[in-house]
Amino acid sequence: AGQPDLGDNPLDGPLDRVRVDDSGRMLTTNFGVPVADNQHSLKAGLRGPTLMEDFILREKLTHFDHERIPERVVHARGSAAHGYFESYDDLSAITRAALFGAPGKRTPVFVRFSTAVGERGSADTVRDVRGFAVKFYTEQGNWDLVGNNIPVFFIQDAMKFPDVVHALKPEPHHAMPQAQSAHDTYWDFASLSPEIAHMLLWQMSDRAIPRSYRTMQGFGVHTFRLVNARGASVFCKFHWTPLAGTHSLVWDEALRIAGADPDFHRRDLWEAIDSGQFPEWELGLQVFSEAQAARLPFDVLDATKLVPEELVPLRAVGKLVLNRNPDNFFAETEQVAFCAAHVVPGIDFSNDPLLQGRLHSYIDTQLTRLGGPNFHEIAINSPVAPIHNNQREGFHRQQINRGRVNYDPNSLAGGCPFQAGARGFVSVPEASQGNQVRGKPALFADHYSQARLFWISQAPVEQDHIVQAFRFELTRVQTPAVRKRVLALLASVDEVLVTRVAASLGMDVPAPLPPATDRPPHPYSPSSPLSLLSR
Ligand code: HEM
Repeated sequence: AGQPDLGDNPLDGPLDRVRVDDSGRMLTTNFGVPVADNQHSLKAGLRGPTLMEDFILREKLTHFDHERIPERVVHARGSAAHGYFESYDDLSAITRAALFGAPGKRTPVFVRFSTAVGERGSADTVRDVRGFAVKFYTEQGNWDLVGNNIPVFFIQDAMKFPDVVHALKPEPHHAMPQAQSAHDTYWDFASLSPEIAHMLLWQMSDRAIPRSYRTMQGFGVHTFRLVNARGASVFCKFHWTPLAGTHSLVWDEALRIAGADPDFHRRDLWEAIDSGQFPEWELGLQVFSEAQAARLPFDVLDATKLVPEELVPLRAVGKLVLNRNPDNFFAETEQVAFCAAHVVPGIDFSNDPLLQGRLHSYIDTQLTRLGGPNFHEIAINSPVAPIHNNQREGFHRQQINRGRVNYDPNSLAGGCPFQAGARGFVSVPEASQGNQVRGKPALFADHYSQARLFWISQAPVEQDHIVQAFRFELTRVQTPAVRKRVLALLASVDEVLVTRVAASLGMDVPAPLPPATDRPPHPYSPSSPLSLLSR
C-alpha cells in the first residue's frame, strides 16, 4: 500500500533528471555555444593549415580521444536491463531489510549479466561462468547481490583470486587465447589446486554454456546473514531461478553461434524486453541457523561447497522482472558499479574468506575504472535514498554541499548529519577469537565429495557432455604433465569419470591423489603428490 507503481519504468524518477534527447535540437559545444558548422575545421584559407584557434574542433577531438575507460578486470563483457523486484511476503521475522517488508512491495533494480573471462568485445557463448549482478535501489540504500550462474567458486580464499584470474585470462606474452579456458596456464593452475574440483565439474557441464541470460540461474554463492530488528541473525544463501526454465546450449551450437553472432545473449535479452517478453526470476532463500550449519559435513564458509536443497529447502520470497532496456550502454551498463560490500540493514556478511576479500576489491578497482572517489554520483550508481555525510571534494564532484562545516562533531552548523543508531546498519556482533594465522579450517580440505555428487547427479547425456568438454579442453593443453595431473584430480573425484576422460584422450588412468590435509604442502614442495606427477 502506498507504493509507487514501479511496473513500467522503475527508474524513471531518479534517472529522468539525466536522460537527454538530442534529436531535433540545436548543436552546441559542451559549454552550450551554438555550433555553426560541424563539417569543416577552421583553416587559414581553404587549403591552408588548420588553426589552433578552432576550439570547436579541439573540443570534439579531445572528447573523442577520452571516450574509452578501462574495461572491468574481470566480467568485462556484459549486458544489462532495468526492472523491479517484488516481495511475496513480509520477511521481517528474519530480516529488517525493507525490500522484504511487505507482500507486493516493489523495489527498482538494475541487473547486469556477464561472462567472466572474455574482453569487452568477446563472444557471448563461450564456456565460462556467467555473472548475475543485481543492484536493488532500496529506501535504506543500495544492496548489490553480485552473484554468478554457478553456485560454487574456483577457490576458497581471496588470496588466490589474482592467480586464478591470471591463469584464466589470455597468456601474458602473446595475449592468447581470447575468452577460452582451453589453454595450458588455466589447466596448469587447476591441476595444482584441488579445491577447484567442484567448480571444474560445473564449468565442464552444460551450465557453463547457457542458452540465454533469460534461462540462467543465479547464486549469491557465499553464505550471508539475515538480521531482524531484534538483532537475531540466521545464515542465508541466495538463489535466482528463471521462470522460463534453465536451458543450455550444446557445445557445437555454442561454437557456431560464437562465430555467427557474438552478441547472441545480448541480442536475446534486448529483443525479449523490447518485444514485451519480460524475463522473470524467482528469488529463493536457503535459511539456516548456526547450529544447523555446525552439523553439516562441510563448512558453510567455504565457497567451493553448496548447501544441498535436500538438507535446507529453498523458500521462494519474491520475483525479479526485467522490463526496460537501457537508453545508453555506456552511461548505464558500462558505468554501473556493483560491489559485494554494498549491503543494507538486515543483510550482513559471513566470515567466508573469499567474500571478505571481495569486500575490498570492488570499490578499489572502481576508483581506477570510474575515475576517482565520486563514482557513486554517476546516475546509475546513485541510491534513491538520500546521501548526507562529510565525504566531499575529489575529481568530478557533482553535489554542492552548503555551509562552512564538514566535520563531526560540530556545533556550528546546527548539528552534523545525525547518526541513525538502531535504524542504521549494525554489524552482527559475532564473537571472534584466535591467534593470527594463515591457513584454513579442516573441513575446507574435502575437495571431492560435492564434486562427485555433482557428477553422479547428472543425466547420462549430461555426463557425456562433461566428458566431451574435458576432452575438448585437454586436447588443447600442450604440456603432457598438466594433462596427467588433471586426470589425477579427476581420479580423486570419481572412477567412472576419470576412466571415461582418460579413454577419450587415449591416456592411462592415474591413481587418485591422497586425501588432502588441512594444510596441504605447496604444490612445488618436494613432499607434494602433485609435484611428483610433474616429473
Ligand atoms: C566483477 C573481484 C569473486 C562475481 C569483479 C570485479 C572485480 C572483482 C575487481 C570488477 C568490478 C568492476 O570493475 O566494477 C573479485 C574478487 C573475488 C571475486 C577479488 C574473490 C576474492 C567473485 C565471486 C563472484 C563474483 C565469488 C560470484 C559470486 C562478480 C560479478 C562481477 C564481478 C558478477 C561483474 C559485476 C558487473 O556486472 O559489473 N569481481 N571477485 N566475483 N565479480 Fe568478482
